[in-house]
Amino acid sequence: MNFRHDLIIVGAGLAGLRAAVECADEDVGVVSKVLPTRSHSGAAQGGITASIGNEEEDRWEWHMFDTVKGSDYLADQDAVEVMVRDAPRAVYELEHMGVPFNRTRDGKIAQRTFGGHTRDYGEKPVKRACYAADRTGRVVLDTLYDQCLRRGVKFYPEHYVLSLVFEDGRCGGVVSFDLSSGELDLLEAKAVLLATGGCGKIYETTSNGYASTGDGLDLAYQSCIPLEDMEFVQFHPTGLYPLGILVSEAARGEGGVLVNGLGERFMERYAPTVKDLAPRDIISRAILTEIKEGRGVDGKDFVHLDLTRLGEAKITERLWEITSFARIYLGIDPVHTPIPVLPTCHYIMGGIPTDMDGRVLIDEKGMAAKGLYAAGECACVSVHGANRLGCNSLLDVLVFGRRSGIAIKEEISKSEHQALSSEPLRLAKQKIAGLLAHEGSEKIDGIRRSMRSLMMEYCSIFRNENGLKKGLEEIGSLKERYNDINLQDKGRSFNYELMEAIELEHQLSICEAILLSALHRKESRGAHIREDYPERDDRQYLKHTLIFRNQKPEIRYKPVKITRFQPEERIY
Ligand code: FUM
Repeated sequence: MNFRHDLIIVGAGLAGLRAAVECADEDVGVVSKVLPTRSHSGAAQGGITASIGNEEEDRWEWHMFDTVKGSDYLADQDAVEVMVRDAPRAVYELEHMGVPFNRTRDGKIAQRTFGGHTRDYGEKPVKRACYAADRTGRVVLDTLYDQCLRRGVKFYPEHYVLSLVFEDGRCGGVVSFDLSSGELDLLEAKAVLLATGGCGKIYETTSNGYASTGDGLDLAYQSCIPLEDMEFVQFHPTGLYPLGILVSEAARGEGGVLVNGLGERFMERYAPTVKDLAPRDIISRAILTEIKEGRGVDGKDFVHLDLTRLGEAKITERLWEITSFARIYLGIDPVHTPIPVLPTCHYIMGGIPTDMDGRVLIDEKGMAAKGLYAAGECACVSVHGANRLGCNSLLDVLVFGRRSGIAIKEEISKSEHQALSSEPLRLAKQKIAGLLAHEGSEKIDGIRRSMRSLMMEYCSIFRNENGLKKGLEEIGSLKERYNDINLQDKGRSFNYELMEAIELEHQLSICEAILLSALHRKESRGAHIREDYPERDDRQYLKHTLIFRNQKPEIRYKPVKITRFQPEERIY
């Protein structure tokens, strides 16, 4: 079938929904492979940062400094400034839409401390994260979805996008697969916004939900669009051991502490000023160092997150969800017993390069693609550089989701619909038929497991040249095995095996982009730690990586935008 809208948004997480709200008086269609309220943004726990100073003095300049320093000076400072200055507006807007934030005694939005957020340019932690217990993403997602329904946004739930359609040098729609009927649709639009989230499911240990398979990243990459800074993959320090489920940094923001097998508060040694509230790259590395040096709990590969000092009332009011995970999955009660934790893959700082209004950039000179936008985790503006601070991602999606919406509205008011040929639909049909008909000897699950385990082994927190090369070789063999897959389910309706096969193709391609980008960055910065190049090297690598797919992947670079803060040593 053919459908036509002014704007097609791919992805119904917070970036997509915020853009949809902005454009809702135009004709907007949102395509999502899951039911919208199951988008991964709903798993965000801790909060949204804004220097509204409800609990103590705060300033946007401090927020900007922390974000730039947290990024290990790789963030583009013009974009960071735009984001942090807009943060108070973004939070009050949510409040007016009905988000049930926690409150101070005098009824203002409550705020708490989070890693790397400080006052007076690093003096001490500041309460900057606005929150709704430990389910902030959940309530913001529900509220924005509600706002979209009120405004008549059309949703295509459980529709999986197979390709972006470019005609006459312009993105004019997508081909999507209706998971329920197995039908293919051509959706035409004057503009397309990719808001498909991250790719954390390429790792074995991850806080990411099943939908985070990097589809949007690879759809862009396949369409000759480069990917930026893909080597920077964030491991959140506290995943529930051994599952990797997120245990929010809010637990430490509320006073929880990390303790090693000797009962020591080891973060005092790694970050003497902010201790357990250091940025994530520093804490994750510290945890792995403790474990490597034999100070894990009971000699095992985890440390403890101790919340017993908080008391039952505070835990129940503010950390209910994460403590319920420990109760349900591990059978322990964090009111009385420390929680075993280990770093877990959480977020990709890199992504599809965009300007500050979501326009996708196709080269190192900043030329914009026509009709194509990106926002949220799949995009790289870049406000997080080499390491994102906690609670800056909800801010990023709201600020740049809205800005993309504003820019798109302007563009679609000036452009006409173009009729698309049926060729993209024919190609997509051929691809699906080919996958269903292929009689090979490989199952996707085996390939996917190998991919996840090699990414953990060679490209998680610590990396080195031999490992990265080995990882690339192994991804090469997995791609060959992929060509010989055999799907068991030959049906059309709700054929998740078919969707997972296509997801796996995207994932293998993204893994290669990450490994190659990491191999070429011969320094250590933020979340990218090279054991063979342990120092940050501003002289050679204070620049953004761009990887192009081409016939053979090609690496190029572009400069970082530095405005207010010159790179310094990062001491916390
Ligand atoms: O720890 C957390 O609640 C995660 C927040 C974030 O990734 O921004």
